[in-house]
Amino acid sequence: MKLSVIGTGYVGLVSGVCFASKGHDVVCVDVSEEKVSLINRKIPPIHEEGLPELLRTVIDERKFRATSNLNEALDFCEAVIVAVGTPTTDGKLDLTYLVQAIRQIGAYLKSTNKFLSVIIKSTVLPTTTDTVVREAITEASGRKVSQFGLGMNPEFLREGKAISDFNFPDRIVLGFDDSQTREVLSKIYEPWNVDKVYVNTRTAEMIKYANNCLLALQVSAANELANLAAKLGGIDFMDVFRGVTLDKRWNPIGSDGSRTDPEILTYLVPGPGFGGSCFPKDVQAIRTQGQNNGLPMEILEGVLSVNAKQPEQVTKILGAHFGNLESKNILLLGLAFKPETDDVRESASIRISEELLAQKTNLVAHDPIATENFIKFSGVQTSAIRFTKNWRAEIANADAIVVATRWAEYKALPGLKVAGKVVFDTRRLLSPKDFPSSTYFSIGRRV
Ligand code: UGA
Repeated sequence: MKLSVIGTGYVGLVSGVCFASKGHDVVCVDVSEEKVSLINRKIPPIHEEGLPELLRTVIDERKFRATSNLNEALDFCEAVIVAVGTPTTDGKLDLTYLVQAIRQIGAYLKSTNKFLSVIIKSTVLPTTTDTVVREAITEASGRKVSQFGLGMNPEFLREGKAISDFNFPDRIVLGFDDSQTREVLSKIYEPWNVDKVYVNTRTAEMIKYANNCLLALQVSAANELANLAAKLGGIDFMDVFRGVTLDKRWNPIGSDGSRTDPEILTYLVPGPGFGGSCFPKDVQAIRTQGQNNGLPMEILEGVLSVNAKQPEQVTKILGAHFGNLESKNILLLGLAFKPETDDVRESASIRISEELLAQKTNLVAHDPIATENFIKFSGVQTSAIRFTKNWRAEIANADAIVVATRWAEYKALPGLKVAGKVVFDTRRLLSPKDFPSSTYFSIGRRV
């Protein structure tokens, strides 16, 4: 099929390139000439594993290109997928970019007789597609609802694994409000042999939020219980998890008595809290939607407040050990909100470094790729931090080494001269056994 994807951010570019690699002809649209030019020169403007190679392939095969000319892209396509950013301002979803894009599509539809399905991929709150989007298109195009199609196809990509998540999804959620769009969606996703959930657009929107809220809930619930386990002592919260997840409602027993290790066990690890561009923003947005509808979202409030406090575990535990953190030399390893990305949005390392600076420590920080973004976007007083490219060389001078992101390169720590030092492994990248001569801390376990 001929597809246009509006927005070459994280979701738009990954989706566009993956659609092209499955055989569709794709044009990605962005208002930024700079991004368009980079993409057409086969340089992805974002960091994502596998993306440079795939972008090169689909451009070489002439299945993919980028443009800043929306009307040209709309002339070309049989369906348009909208993947522009929907940031959160004061806990509320900002639809400015989405509405701008939709109005332009509406204006295009006014100038032609062509039928187009407009499929929203941006994360939007339940009811947005069939109210805000529908009304904006109707107003700008002068067309009745049946004269254009409306779809909602949320994405479930994890940063760092986005290409493989797109190619091998757990399921595909296809929301539609008219039968033509149902057909269009099923054609787009024909190459994927996986469970497909056909629902209306508002259900599709709710599935996306419910998914992220329930995952964030599990992180906060686990962290809260893990803090208690550590306080009581003698409990490793990962053992608790293992015990819990053998309940057959989490992990069914096969007819031959067999079990597979529940995937959630590799995902959930007690730590300094969740970050990124999705969980914090999505939980806040739906909490606000509930409040605006007269429903106090008490559990989601709890998820957010546990998460907001969780990075303090680092200074609390270090403070209890050292007595006073002032002038202690701390080496902070990892600034990205998780490994394999340079994204620092809502990263736990932001709060950890703020807390460490407030305690007047001497802070040295490292990240393999996210330092620049941290300096530009974190909002932390970064002039008070010394950033290093060579973290190994900083070990000798450090009183405590805090691993805040699960970058594989930090697995080298046990082989370095860390004897007599404090190692705080907030992400459980390593194990207490690796540090026989250091003081080893983690979250949810006191050794
Ligand atoms: C998340 C979801 O996992 C995806 O399914 C979803 O598509 C995506 O949001 C989205 O809405 O676009 P992502 O934000 O890329 O993906 O990252 P995750 O791997 O889920 O991690 C989110 C945050 O939770 C990270 O800061 C991670 O370190 C943290 N986390 C995760 C914990 O602090 N503890 C855990 O036990 C697990």
